[in-house]
Amino acid sequence: MKNTYLDCLALFGVGGAHPGGLKLTREILAQEQIDSSSRILDIGCGTGQTAAFISNHYNCHVSALENNKVMLEKAEERLSTISLPVTIVEGKAEELPFEDNHFDIILSESVISFTEQPVTLSELKRVLKPNGVLLGIEMTLEKLIDKQELEAFIHFYGVTRLQTEDEWFETVKEAGFSAIRITKNDEDPDEEDLENATEFYLSENITDECFSVLETHEQFTKDFKDIVGYRVIRCTK
Ligand SMILES: C[S@@+](CC[C@H](N)C(=O)[O-])C[C@H]1O[C@@H](n2cnc3c(N)ncnc32)[C@H](O)[C@@H]1O
Repeated sequence: MKNTYLDCLALFGVGGAHPGGLKLTREILAQEQIDSSSRILDIGCGTGQTAAFISNHYNCHVSALENNKVMLEKAEERLSTISLPVTIVEGKAEELPFEDNHFDIILSESVISFTEQPVTLSELKRVLKPNGVLLGIEMTLEKLIDKQELEAFIHFYGVTRLQTEDEWFETVKEAGFSAIRITKNDEDPDEEDLENATEFYLSENITDECFSVLETHEQFTKDFKDIVGYRVIRCTK
C-alpha cells in the first residue's frame, strides 16, 4: 500500500476527522476557561476545521501543528480566510517546536494515538503552562480481541497502539499529568455533525488506491463497531 490511511484522509481533505466531530469539540471547549489572551494549540490539526472554529469563536491565540504536507496546505488555505491569524506550524507531535510552559490548552483530536504516545505526552506536558489543560479525543479498545485482528487494525490505520480506557489512564499518569478524567460520550451524531464530518476538500490526484483504502476503512468501521470506541481525556499539567 503506497498511500496510508492518513495519506488518503489528507487527499480527500476530510474536515472533521475525529469521533464526535466539531460538536464534541465545541462541547469540551465550552467547559474550559478561555478568553482572548488564551493560547491554544491544536496538534495534528488536519485541514484546520477546529483551529478555525476556535479562532472565530474565542478570538484567542491559536497555533495549529501538522506533519502531513497535504493537510498543511489545506489548513493554510482555510485559515487564510479568517480574520485572526492562526499560527500554522509544520512539525511532529513528538518534537514540538514551541518553548516550555507556553500554552493554556492543547487539543489532540484523534492524534496522540498515531504518534509515539509517551514521547508526545511528555512534549505536550513540556509546552503546557503549569495547570494548563490537555484535552484529547482518542480511540479506545473496548473488548479484548484476537492478536492478529488487533494487529490488522493497528497496521491499517497506522496507530502506534490501541489502548483501553484503563491503559490510557496509566499512560497519561506515567507522563506526569494530574486530575485525569476520562469520559465516554454516548451521543449519536446529529445532522450538523454529519455535515462537518463529511466536509471534503479533494485533491486533484486521488488515486484508485485511495478509494480502496476508503472501502477498507468502511469495512473496519463496521467490523470493529463494538471493539473500538473513543474517550474524551482531560488532564492538567
Ligand atoms: C485522524 S486525523 C485527525 C485530524 C484532525 N485533528 C481532525 O480532527 O480533523 C490525525 C491527524 O494527525 C496528524 N498526525 C499524525 N501523526 C502526527 C505526528 N506525529 N505529528 C503531527 N501530526 C500528526 C495526521 O497527519 C492527521 O492530520
